[in-house]
Amino acid sequence: MAASNAPRQRGAAPVSSGPTLTSQHAIDPPLAERRLCFVLGKGGVGKSTVSAALGIAYARQGHRTLLLEVAGRDRLSRLLDRADASTEPTVVGEGLYAATIDPEEATEEYLRGQLPVRAIADVLAGSKTFRTFTQAAPGLKEMVTLGKIWSYAVELRPDQEAPEWDRLVVDAPATGHAVALLETAANVREIAQGGPIHEQAERIREVISHPAATGIAVVARPDELPVSEALDAIDRLRAAELPVAAAILNCITPRRFSDEDVAALESARALVNGSERGAIDAALAESRRAAREARHARDLEGGGVPVIRLPLLARGAGRLAGLEELASAVTDGLSQRAGVA
Ligand SMILES: Nc1ncnc2c1ncn2[C@@H]1O[C@H](COP(=O)(O)OP(=O)(O)O)[C@@H](O)[C@H]1O
Ligand SMILES: [Mg+2]
Repeated sequence: MAASNAPRQRGAAPVSSGPTLTSQHAIDPPLAERRLCFVLGKGGVGKSTVSAALGIAYARQGHRTLLLEVAGRDRLSRLLDRADASTEPTVVGEGLYAATIDPEEATEEYLRGQLPVRAIADVLAGSKTFRTFTQAAPGLKEMVTLGKIWSYAVELRPDQEAPEWDRLVVDAPATGHAVALLETAANVREIAQGGPIHEQAERIREVISHPAATGIAVVARPDELPVSEALDAIDRLRAAELPVAAAILNCITPRRFSDEDVAALESARALVNGSERGAIDAALAESRRAAREARHARDLEGGGVPVIRLPLLARGAGRLAGLEELASAVTDGLSQRAGVA
């Protein structure tokens, strides 16, 4: 494995040159400067699409970037035209690599690493009891998954001089699961008072809660419910002292009509009938939609983190060309600072 949970080089890779040591949002570095980015959001909002676009954006800036997909639903792989969802980092573009984290496999690997005798580990791993245990142990799968992400983040190059990965983007599970995943390190640290598990959890917690190292991006669509859910997620993450760096408003309808256009359309509407009126109504409906989306964007800005806006791609985001376009839009929004609102 390229980055296993078994003992390996796990020196403290420099996480960032940023000066911030506490979570004072106004001086937190922008998302672009944080090495480890978690992309969160409700199912279907565009987490995988945004993760891929972010990865492409970082790789374009010359960062050696690793895209990590948790839970192996291989959406990311398909987006990037990868044949399979490999658990080994595989090159998917210039400076861009992708790997899948399979929580079951990672847990098995971790427990094998903890058991002293290989033969016993093999027998255990194949047994039903073992599976039942790994399913039932509270937080074990989450802890191992997080540990795996962390081990990629602190992995050093063979010369030990620099981190293996300049940027890591995690396509996280849907919000509730993802927040629970991120909270695991602090929880395990509390439960395991002292001892190696406590220490390991503390090392992981330090990295993922440090705003110079880690940035969480919460993705939403420009609608009332998704935006209010994203705001709730931001609050919950903040309450857990997890570093939210940006909100990403995905699928914004491009604004076609200016205020003057709308006024002209409204006056023209009174003068026409039939299909012409239908066309004007359609145009006005479109402009009302854009106005609603702008309102939702302002609401999201109330969350106190920079809002990165991504357009709705008319031809869909399921193609590489679409991702390249979104990557350019992401780049424009990336350097905004947290806490300016
Ligand atoms: N900006 C966008 N423009 C057009 N289609 C998009 C955009 N972002 C996402 N999509 C589409 O929305 C669907 C859900 O996106 P996906 O990234 O799989 O969401 P998630 O990972 O959050 O479940 C996909 O069909 C994707 O192509
Ligand atoms: Mg997805």
